[in-house]
Amino acid sequence: MNSISIPTHNWNSGLYEDKHAFVWQYGEDLLQLLNPKAGELILDLGCGTGQLTEKIAQTGAQVMGIDSAATMIEKARQNYPQIEFDVADARNFQVEKPCDAVFSNAVLHWVKQAEQAIASIHQALKPGGRFVAEFGGKGNVGAIVTALENAIASMGIHQPQTLNPWYYPSIGEYATLLEQQGFDVIYASLRDRPTPLADKEAGLANWIEMFAGAFFVGISAEQKTQIIRHVEEQLKPTLYQDGTWTADYRRIRILAIKL
Ligand code: BEZ
Repeated sequence: MNSISIPTHNWNSGLYEDKHAFVWQYGEDLLQLLNPKAGELILDLGCGTGQLTEKIAQTGAQVMGIDSAATMIEKARQNYPQIEFDVADARNFQVEKPCDAVFSNAVLHWVKQAEQAIASIHQALKPGGRFVAEFGGKGNVGAIVTALENAIASMGIHQPQTLNPWYYPSIGEYATLLEQQGFDVIYASLRDRPTPLADKEAGLANWIEMFAGAFFVGISAEQKTQIIRHVEEQLKPTLYQDGTWTADYRRIRILAIKL
């Protein structure tokens, strides 16, 4: 994952691999849409610790993984020394040779400058090349974000909206951006994907710790603990059942062809 272009985010690759394996496990399904073929040149944009990059390599495709987080790339290289991995930013990366496909799982909701990322992806592809992506779409983790904002406000803290690090477009919005930059969007979907979190009753707190640090800029550790408790109280009736938290994910999935 899935960690491209998040200036305020420090990625903990250990916590990511230990408790958030669902990120690449769900992504395996997206590989069917990519349909990689032996000999193709494929870029995995936001490869995280490399698990899906390696699955693509197993098909005989020549694959390279990039991620903005040096910690993730270091771990990916340890995990799969036979694959090429590099640190790069989704908003301005360049490739030496145009690719047959750019693949991206659970990353692009971190890239608020979507036009810049789309321009980079476009220049990285051959004409006829495929862009296959899945990420958080309109309404993603809406209940969690609302509960976080309520909990922060209820303590009399006023955080600017700009601290929210995520971009969750609708199909119409994202397809329009792609078309404006020379893509033919041949498939798009938006669907709820409730996602059970690891670690039983600690699941939501771990998720917030791993991914939602940006909301806590300028907030003390004690206040943060109280806010997380308050978020849990608000969400328990809807997102906690039989000892497991479930995050209200909504995924947008795209297949677009470079014209
Ligand atoms: C997601 O995959 O939808 C996601 C992951 C972390 C933070 C926010 C969203």
